[in-house]
Amino acid sequence: MARILVADPDPRAQQELQALLQRNGFELDAARDVPSALAPLTDDDVDLVLCELALPGGGGMKLLHEIQQSHPDVAVVLMSAFGSVQDAVQAMRHGAADFLGKPYTPDQILVAIDRVLAKAALQRENQELKSALDDRLRLDNVVGSDPRMQAIFKTVRAVAPTKTTVLITGESGTGKTMVARALHQLSARSRGPFIEVNCGALPESLLESELFGHIRGSFTGAVKDKVGKFEAAHGGTIFLDEIGTISPAFQVKLLRVLQDRVIERVGETKTIPVDVRIVLATNKNLEQAVAAGEFREDLYYRIHVVALEMPLLRDRAADIAPLAQHFLRRFAAEHGKPVTRFTPAALAALSEAQWPGNVRQLENVIERAVVLGEGTAIDVVDLPTFGRAPATRGGNAAATAATADADIGALPLRDALAASEKRIIELRLARCGGNRERAAKELGIDRSTLFHKLRRLGIR
Ligand SMILES: Nc1ncnc2c1ncn2[C@@H]1O[C@H](COP(=O)(O)OP(=O)(O)OP(=O)(O)O)[C@@H](O)[C@H]1O
Ligand SMILES: [Mg+2]
Repeated sequence: MARILVADPDPRAQQELQALLQRNGFELDAARDVPSALAPLTDDDVDLVLCELALPGGGGMKLLHEIQQSHPDVAVVLMSAFGSVQDAVQAMRHGAADFLGKPYTPDQILVAIDRVLAKAALQRENQELKSALDDRLRLDNVVGSDPRMQAIFKTVRAVAPTKTTVLITGESGTGKTMVARALHQLSARSRGPFIEVNCGALPESLLESELFGHIRGSFTGAVKDKVGKFEAAHGGTIFLDEIGTISPAFQVKLLRVLQDRVIERVGETKTIPVDVRIVLATNKNLEQAVAAGEFREDLYYRIHVVALEMPLLRDRAADIAPLAQHFLRRFAAEHGKPVTRFTPAALAALSEAQWPGNVRQLENVIERAVVLGEGTAIDVVDLPTFGRAPATRGGNAAATAATADADIGALPLRDALAASEKRIIELRLARCGGNRERAAKELGIDRSTLFHKLRRLGIR
């Protein structure tokens, strides 16, 4: 229920109005002058203020003015026993939602309140719709002025409203998942589900039941019926990530879904139609996989309808600074840090780095710098060395590696092994764009083992 603040210096008027509003289910706050009327606005969720024009502490007009400044969403209705037409006109002109002459009947005030609250709700809803629409049209939070990125955004906007299958290729961390989400958000299906499945993370038998569902008893461990992701994505978008890893047998099954838009749950022969938009991604070169006989050609053509190729970050150096700035702003806000900019040297270092982990690596580097850095600017020392020599020492990458080898040669075996292990993990993490889950998988260890090693070896 709406919350109303009654600001009236007259105890009797105050009491009567409160009783009336309470009977009608409103929540209440009370004030007798301008300063005491401002406090509940900050603490409580006040929707509407009923305010006597002759309010001590500056008057109702002053309160109206203050509310307009600091709480523009709160509606104000002014009331007066001696109010003139001029007062009313002036109040409305300054943004009052209504002006009521005293005495008023209970009906008069209740009708006025309903009308004002209904209007405010409508305005809020309009505002929400409008900003949702803005977001959808702008590809919000996606940075990229490189012509190849611009071309991708253009295609995304053009194909999003259609049901066309889209294949997104590109190395780890280049923005494939982000583009898949944008395709969904910009489509008429955006109110439907967006379901993401990492096809590389599951063995084939599980992947099948994950995607298509199964019925109870269809295999050991299938204790209940399970709805698959395709069915769950009905009316929305399914995003099949790491599609390059699926087996030839599974490729056949997927082809069938793409052709006929029907699925069968594991253990059942009934076909179930599904209305889904299919987006796929891979960091593999599928053409090569087709040539090598690892990926079915017919499936390749079926998914290669609209293909988006995400460029490497180092190949679009002009995007690095704007992206870095974007992440800086985001993480500064998220972590409550005062940092606002990069020093020119830091920007130069960022622009020259190789970024094997692409945008995700940049994102991680900036977050770390924001969290650990001090002051308002990020400098070179706040950045990792990216395989170039540490900023303080000079020299080049080869020299650094040589030094590292020499260092290892001088260490007891245990420490030398730890140093090598550290270097291997750091390299792998960098290559996976800081994605620990993926690095663990590639290293053939599980996540908790990796976390343990990160801690033990002092890797951040
Ligand atoms: N152009 C961009 N503008 C803003 N943020 C971006 C951009 N590209 C990528 N990002 C951000 O970088 C991170 C990595 O992107 P994303 O997860 O989409 O990469 P990916 O290609 O799917 O990687 P992977 O192959 O590892 O799944 C995300 O946090 C994403 O929001
Ligand atoms: Mg991804």
